[in-house]
Amino acid sequence: MADINSSFAAIEKKGFLDIDIDPTIDLFAEIENLKKEKNAIILAHYYQEPDIQDVADYIGDSLGLAQQAEKTQADIIVFAGVHFMAETAKILNPSKKVLLPDMNAGCSLSDSAPPALFKLFKEKHPKHKVITYINCSAGIKALSDIICTSSNAQKIVESLPADQPIIFAPDKNLGAYINKQTGRNMILWNGACMVHEIFSLEKIIRLKIRHPEAKIIAHPECEEAILKTADFIGSTTGLLKFTKTDSATIYIVATETGILHQMQKESPDKTFIPAPPDNSCACNDCPHMKLNTLEKLYLCLKYEAPEIQMDEQLRLEAKKPIDEMLKISAYYGL
Ligand code: 13P
Ligand code: SF4
Repeated sequence: MADINSSFAAIEKKGFLDIDIDPTIDLFAEIENLKKEKNAIILAHYYQEPDIQDVADYIGDSLGLAQQAEKTQADIIVFAGVHFMAETAKILNPSKKVLLPDMNAGCSLSDSAPPALFKLFKEKHPKHKVITYINCSAGIKALSDIICTSSNAQKIVESLPADQPIIFAPDKNLGAYINKQTGRNMILWNGACMVHEIFSLEKIIRLKIRHPEAKIIAHPECEEAILKTADFIGSTTGLLKFTKTDSATIYIVATETGILHQMQKESPDKTFIPAPPDNSCACNDCPHMKLNTLEKLYLCLKYEAPEIQMDEQLRLEAKKPIDEMLKISAYYGL
């Protein structure tokens, strides 16, 4: 068993606290007590494991989480999501302590756009405005004009004049989808999400043949071939809302499987089938999101580590395009 001091020292290497937890304690109750004692809030993304979603104060998509992070009065934000999300919370609310249960919780999409390369790319297109999906590092945000999420991307793009040339990064699938929706011709950075790129069209079609009454719903990070089969396309919050209000009773869900927990909770009488990936698994988990566990969340809240730290100059530069996004979103009531 590691002692507390060596565990703290190991955070840099391991990315999380590694301390044995008394197996007899009720983690749910302990987390509730710690939240009250420390005036802490847990913000969780829909892709987190069900136990984490159940202890969260707010569960949402990337836009909702950023909005909550900006306005919270809590002293501590425990961000149950991936690094770019916790970093965004710190950018928006620097006086708060922002904790991430596992610092290794990255994102393949964010990693696909290294700031140094992106800077060169941007320099080749000096007349272009840069609209960047929130799934990127602070370094990329600092090089952007406006940030967007999957729930506001279309409105953000349409907020610029029709003849304004645009670079859209880092997700080529979301960018291609928005190009189609808006009739624009944005230049797309060649990035993608590892989770949304591996759905099997063939297996989805086979599922649809077995369940002809099922509706296919998909996240816009999916490839075009998958999106073409979809009855509805939306952000995680958009997909969840759709399944609550739509009349179908069975859905094939082409996004990360964590969202099924809320879908099932909100519509207990409906059936949700995770769209299968192009491998031997039956469902599609994000390995980054799933690095966070209830145990790591408990330790992180108890010992207030690992904590997001940021260079102040970078934070200020990265904040401008996020503020722009929040302003446009508020204008449209998003
Ligand atoms: P949204 O929840 O904003 O739709 O984003 C999905 C996603 O991939 C987050 O990493
Ligand atoms: Fe990144 Fe995709 Fe995982 Fe979201 S689901 S955190 S975009 S790798």
